[in-house]
Amino acid sequence: MSKEIFEVKIEGLSNQGHGFGKIAHTGQKVSIAGTWPGEVVLATLPENESARRGPFQKLNLKEIVLPSTHRLTRPCPHSGLGFDQCSGCPWSFIQYQEQVQQKKQKFLYALQRQGLTQLGPIIGDVMTFPPLHENSPSGIRTRGQFKTDGRKVGYLHEGTQHIVDIQDCMVLNEKARTLYKQFRQTFPRDDWKPGEGFHYNFFEIDDELNSANDIQMNRRRPFKQAMNEANFFMQQWITKKAQSWSSGVAVDFYAGSGNLTFPMASNPLLQIYGVEISRAAEVEFNFKLKSYENKIDKVKNPVHWQGADLNSGPSIKKLSEDIGQVDYALFDPPRTGLTKKKTLFKQFNRIKEILYVGCEKETAISDWRFFLSQGYQISELKLVDQFPHTPHLEMLAHFRKMN
Ligand SMILES: C[S@@+](CC[C@H](N)C(=O)[O-])C[C@H]1O[C@@H](n2cnc3c(N)ncnc32)[C@H](O)[C@@H]1O
Repeated sequence: MSKEIFEVKIEGLSNQGHGFGKIAHTGQKVSIAGTWPGEVVLATLPENESARRGPFQKLNLKEIVLPSTHRLTRPCPHSGLGFDQCSGCPWSFIQYQEQVQQKKQKFLYALQRQGLTQLGPIIGDVMTFPPLHENSPSGIRTRGQFKTDGRKVGYLHEGTQHIVDIQDCMVLNEKARTLYKQFRQTFPRDDWKPGEGFHYNFFEIDDELNSANDIQMNRRRPFKQAMNEANFFMQQWITKKAQSWSSGVAVDFYAGSGNLTFPMASNPLLQIYGVEISRAAEVEFNFKLKSYENKIDKVKNPVHWQGADLNSGPSIKKLSEDIGQVDYALFDPPRTGLTKKKTLFKQFNRIKEILYVGCEKETAISDWRFFLSQGYQISELKLVDQFPHTPHLEMLAHFRKMN
């Protein structure tokens, strides 16, 4: 293909959240960032890129011939499709309620593709949190990871090493946004220039940092859920489930710093473990544990930290030797899902109930298929919009073992 202009009718949204369709006169499948189902657009091949990405040839948006009725002006001045614009809130050009509808549709489609259409009817509306209906991503995110070469500070342009200089990031909540602005003001600075062979250094900010002085170079902070309101909802959901359990051992696999572990401890009959690989998370977990222990009767309801690599068979075996059998399991894995599910369920073969918190639909659905194949039945499935203005979605699922 040369530097031609192609007309495309957008039929749906790809996994990356880009509009896809077919070139009118050739029928070739293409994806185009910044487009929405129902639109007709003109697009060109990107500079220096003719490779396919996934099932689609990537094109660049040139002109919108027929816009979606849901289209808005992007609320953030940094947001856009250009090389010097931020691609961090890729759906912010579309009305919020329409984004939510499309997320649910995409989720239902993923269920269908993996042969689990029977789960569709148990999903209610996607949980959303005010004031998001105002169509703005303002003030919702607890955290961000930023890159700097000592001069520019901001996010990387999608799929590149190019730093988009960001003065202010409106998607951050007030605390994180203030910390970012304060730290941003200290640039340019030579001590943040990358070493030979590197494009940038990175730093992480979240709303649990006390001061911009505590920001560290190239150091990952413990995992933190992206939105406080969604996180509170998830904690409540887990508290309620745990309170319905009888006595036994409950394990929060992928515990991070205990964000979802301590809600399980609201049931005093349970013995609780948080299992996690990150040492930074261990420090925060133990910090939370101290204040928790000050409040409760330790002997009745102990909570323990347990370091383990859940991607490693030998580490899972060692874990089962250390903690014994598990009655109730909470899984909140990273996007990769449960990479060692067979080993996990071989070692822990007494699990009665599973709570699953997932942020990547394909791996979550594949993990659920495995649970169903092991004799579990799903009793609840909730979709939570923890990532507004992006294609991502949080999923909560509850499984029970059938006799
Ligand atoms: C989605 S986060 C969930 C954290 C926690 N549930 C929370 O709400 O903050 C996934 C966690 O899994 C941990 N993790 C990633 N790979 C792991 C592995 N191989 N073994 C154990 N934990 C892992 C990460 O460090 C991270 O804390």
